[in-house]
Amino acid sequence: MVHYSRFRTRYSPEMFTNQHHLRHLLRPEHYTSEDQYRLELRHLFKPAWHPVAARAEVARPGDFLTLDLLETPILVRNFDGELRAFLNVCPHRHSRLTDKRKGNAAKLRCQYHGWEFTKEGGTGKIPDARAFRPWDRDNSCLKPFRLDTCGDLVFINLSDTGPSLREWIGPLWDVWQSHGGAYRHAATWEKEFECNWKVVLENSLESYHIPEVHPHTFKDFPPEESAWHELTEQFTSFRTTPPRDFATRSQDWIIRRLGVPVTKDYWHRVLHPHATGSSLDSFRMMQCVFPTGPTTCRYRSIFFTLRGFRKNPLAWALYRSLRTLATLVAKQVFAEDGAIYTGVQRGMAASPHAGVIGTREERIYYFQKYVLDNTRGPRELPLLEVETPADVNAVG
Ligand code: FES
Ligand SMILES: [Fe+2]
Repeated sequence: MVHYSRFRTRYSPEMFTNQHHLRHLLRPEHYTSEDQYRLELRHLFKPAWHPVAARAEVARPGDFLTLDLLETPILVRNFDGELRAFLNVCPHRHSRLTDKRKGNAAKLRCQYHGWEFTKEGGTGKIPDARAFRPWDRDNSCLKPFRLDTCGDLVFINLSDTGPSLREWIGPLWDVWQSHGGAYRHAATWEKEFECNWKVVLENSLESYHIPEVHPHTFKDFPPEESAWHELTEQFTSFRTTPPRDFATRSQDWIIRRLGVPVTKDYWHRVLHPHATGSSLDSFRMMQCVFPTGPTTCRYRSIFFTLRGFRKNPLAWALYRSLRTLATLVAKQVFAEDGAIYTGVQRGMAASPHAGVIGTREERIYYFQKYVLDNTRGPRELPLLEVETPADVNAVG
C-alpha cells in the first residue's frame, strides 16, 4: 500500500519542493542484502511493466530478440507483424529455445530437438511426433508473457494479472508515445554493473553530480531557478532549460530544419520503480535498470533521435548527423555515470553513515520512500521520525 498523502506536488516556475535537507531513508544494508533484493523483486518488479526494446528491433516477420529479465529468460518475436513474448524455455526438455541475442527465423523452433511453436505458444511441427503418443497438450505449450507497446517502445510484464500498460504508465502515456513518430530508433545498448540497481537509479535522479562526473559533457548543474521538480505517487520529474550556447543553438537550427518546433526543454522522468524517460528536442531515451542480484544490475538504454517528417535530402543528411552525434554523446554520458557506480557500492558496503539528501536531490527521497513503503510496510518506516519532507517545507 502506498501512502503519499503527506506529499504535495508543487507546480511553479521554480523549483525544489523542499527547502531543507532530507533524511537518507534507505540504509546501506538495503543496497546489499539478499532479503531486500527478494522483497524488491516480488513487490516492485514482478508487478511492473518493463521497457525492453524498440519496435524497430523486431520490425520484420520472424525477427526475434532474447534477454534475461529478473532471472527470467525472455524471447520476443514478430509473428507476421504481431509481437509476442514467451519464456525462452522449451517444454520438451527445458533447453533455451535459442541462445542468440537476436536474429530472424522463419519458424519459432527450439535449438535442441527442433520442436516448433505457434504465436499462441502451442506446438507446430514436432520431429517424430509419434514418439510422444498420447499427446500431453497441457504440458507442451510455451509460457507466454504480457506484451504491449507505447509509441515504438515494447514493454513486457511478468505477471499474468495486474494493470494494463496504459494504466501502469498513467499520466506519462501521452508523453512517452513520442518514442516513435518524429523520433526514430537509433541504438539500444546495455551494460552490467557491480552495484545494486538503486545506486544507478538514484544517480539518475539528481543533477548534483554533474560538475564532478560530467565536467565536459554537461559542465555544471542548473541553478535552482531553472530547475523544476514534480513529485508524485507514481513518478518524479525534472525539467530544465540548458543554457543557450553555440552547440544548443546549432541543434535548434537542425530541429527547425527537420520540421519540429523547438521547446529547448530537457525532461527526465522516472516511473517507479525503474522506467526512466529523458528527452531533449533532439532525442528521446528510455532507460531501465534491472536488478540481477543484491549487488549487481543491468542497465539498458533504448535511444531514439529526431527524424522529423521532411523527406528532402537536407533533412536526411541532418537526421543522419544528429543521430551519430547524439548517440555518441548519450553513450559518453552513460559511460561517465557508469564509472562511479562501483565506488558507490563499495562505499555502501563499508559505510557507518546514515547519509543525507540535499534539496537538489529530493527526488531520491521520494524514490526511497516508495521503495520502503512497498517492501517494508509503513510501520518500519524511519520516515515517521522525519519532520522535513514536503508537508513542512513546501510552499503552496
Ligand atoms: S528441448 Fe526443445 S525440442 Fe527438445
Ligand atoms: Fe549523470
